[in-house]
Amino acid sequence: MDKYIIGNWKAAPATTKEARRLWDQIQRSSWGKNVHVIVCPPFPFLSSVIPKGKIALGGQDCFWEQGAYTSAVSAEMLKDVGCAYVILGHSERREYFGDTDDVINKKLLSALKSGLRPILAVGEKTRKTFDSRGKHTNELDIVVEEQVVKALRGVSHAKIRNVIIAYEPIWAISKGKGNHAFAKPDDVFMAVLYIRKILTRLYSRTIAEAVPIIYGGSTNSKNIARFLAEGGVNGVLVGNASLDSTEFARIVKIANEAT
Ligand code: PGA
Repeated sequence: MDKYIIGNWKAAPATTKEARRLWDQIQRSSWGKNVHVIVCPPFPFLSSVIPKGKIALGGQDCFWEQGAYTSAVSAEMLKDVGCAYVILGHSERREYFGDTDDVINKKLLSALKSGLRPILAVGEKTRKTFDSRGKHTNELDIVVEEQVVKALRGVSHAKIRNVIIAYEPIWAISKGKGNHAFAKPDDVFMAVLYIRKILTRLYSRTIAEAVPIIYGGSTNSKNIARFLAEGGVNGVLVGNASLDSTEFARIVKIANEAT
C-alpha cells in the first residue's frame, strides 16, 4: 500500500516569510518517489505556498458550511486554494475547540463532498485498563471505536477509500522533549489491528485492508523506521519534527526507503 508522510505545522511558524522559507526548503529536499508527502500549514499561509510537484497541501481543519459562520473556513475554500487533504478530529481540536464526534462527522462528510481527502485523527487519552474504582475498562478500545464509528457515519463504501485514519494516542503526542511516554511499535500495532477490525465490521475486509492507517505522536527520524516496520502503519503524521525541514526530509527519505 502507498505510504503517507504528513507534516502538521499546527499554529506555527509566526510569519509568512518563515512559512515560505520552510516550504521551499522542504520542496528542495530530495527523497525519491515512493511516498505521498503532504504538508498542512496554518490557514493564513495556504495561499502563500505553491503546491507543485512532490508536496501536496492540506488544511488542519474545515467547517461544513459557508456563509454566516464567523471565522469558519469551508472545505470548498480549502479546495480552492489548492488543498487536496484536510486533517479532521485532531486531539487538539477536540480538546481546545470542542470538536465532538458529531461535529467531526459533519466536517468529514463535507470534506469528502468537496473532493478533499480527510485525515481522520483518533486516539485515546491514556492506556488505562482499570478506572479509579478498579472497574475494568479499556480506553483504547472504547474511545477509538466510538471515534471511528461516529466520524464515519454516512460515509459510503465508495468514499471510505478516500479517508486516511491517523492513530494518535494523546499520551504520546508532543513528547519529543524529554518525556518518556513514547508509544512503542507494539502499542501502535494493536491499535491499527483494532481499527482494521472496526472497518471490517463497518465495511468489509477488502476496504479495511485498503484504508491507509498512519501513526502520529512524537515521531522523528530516529523512531519512524520501527513504526513503519513493526507498527503496521502506512505512514506517519509528524507534528513538531515537521517544522525542521532537514529532519522532515530525513523522515520522508527513511519512509521512501522502507519496504
Ligand atoms: P508531534 O505531533 O509529532 O509533535 O507529537 C503529532 C500530532 O499532534 O499530529
